[in-house]
Amino acid sequence: MSRFPELTSIALALSLGSTALWAADDAKPAGYWGFGEAATTEQIAGWDIDVRPDGKGLPPGSGSVEDGEFLYDDQCAECHGTFGEGEGRYPSLAGGEGSLQEERPHKTVGSYWPYVSTLWDYVYRAVPFTAPQSLTHDETYAIVAYVLYLNELVEDDFVATQDNLVSVRLPNEANFIAEQRPDVQAKRCMKDCRDPAAIEIKSEAPLFRPTPVAAVAAAAPAQKTAGESVYDASCAVCHSNGVGGAPMTGEAMDWSARIATGNDALYANAINGFQGDKGVMPPKGGFMNLSDDDVKAAVDYMVGQLDD
Ligand code: HEC
Ligand code: HEC
Repeated sequence: MSRFPELTSIALALSLGSTALWAADDAKPAGYWGFGEAATTEQIAGWDIDVRPDGKGLPPGSGSVEDGEFLYDDQCAECHGTFGEGEGRYPSLAGGEGSLQEERPHKTVGSYWPYVSTLWDYVYRAVPFTAPQSLTHDETYAIVAYVLYLNELVEDDFVATQDNLVSVRLPNEANFIAEQRPDVQAKRCMKDCRDPAAIEIKSEAPLFRPTPVAAVAAAAPAQKTAGESVYDASCAVCHSNGVGGAPMTGEAMDWSARIATGNDALYANAINGFQGDKGVMPPKGGFMNLSDDDVKAAVDYMVGQLDD
């Protein structure tokens, strides 16, 4: 016990009841627990170092590709390679463009990362591996500029600053999209909520059954139609496996009665969504960025799958 004098006295105070605990210092405000202290502005600033894609959070400072090259050669190259190619099994920081759809994607800052701000944040926060948070703001700008240069995204005379950094866009940005599937848009229920025990997942199929890459590649025609592309991106997640009661694409049994209601009815239900006997078809499958024509094209594609 004697190794923990503070704990002992807290336990003692608690055992005497709360009156005794607070009586020691009446000046403490209500709710004050008697330990810890308010964080100072400086302490908060030490933790508050995240940088957003719009540049919010970037500190003042600047650094050139030229300065970055020296810093990088000195502190990063031994692991990440002189040209960012990666030594041994250390990650590479450059290259890999166009590889994301290959069986073994090569993900780097240039080929995969969405925003330059992440690079700045990562470098300032976490590197070099052996001495995180040892770089100054200016050094971070310089190294970031150099890594961008290694990815051929800026010229060799580029000087990164608080103001211009986020104007550099990474090539893969557009492929990161906001999560739009309906289940993650649910609002938290705070009152008069349904009994959780009464909620069930109405699917006989496993919720997620990925199609093997090789099968997709073998089945993929040279050029997809617009409808097929929409279907693959937004509808297949449910309709290829019957998730949540969705009629399976290509299954005549699932579709013949529906198709008999006519194209307009199918379009309207796909666009506006509906609750049927099998489950819920969310409006546009939950992908509200799709136009009505996109959805119609996808429906045409789905219906067309019965012909062959
Ligand atoms: C001792 C080896 C070593 C050194 C030196 C080092 N790193 Fe790293 N770096 C790593 C390892 C290991 C990872 C992977 C860490 C992980 O995934 O958790 C990494 C990851 C990274 C990543 C993320 C890569 C990705 O695509 O996920 C960046 C960016 C990076 N380092 C930049 C730097 C920079 C800039 C420096 C020099 C200031 C540096 N590193 C120095 C070993 C090192
Ligand atoms: C979250 C799962 C889910 C997604 C994503 C989804 N659907 Fe559905 N869809 C369903 C379910 C479940 C039904 C069956 C509802 C019922 O009949 O009970 C359905 C039914 C349909 C029907 C039949 C309509 C009818 O009148 O019988 C069409 C057409 C359809 N979906 C088109 C689409 C299209 C096009 C997309 C993509 C843009 C899509 N769905 C995305 C779950 C989904």
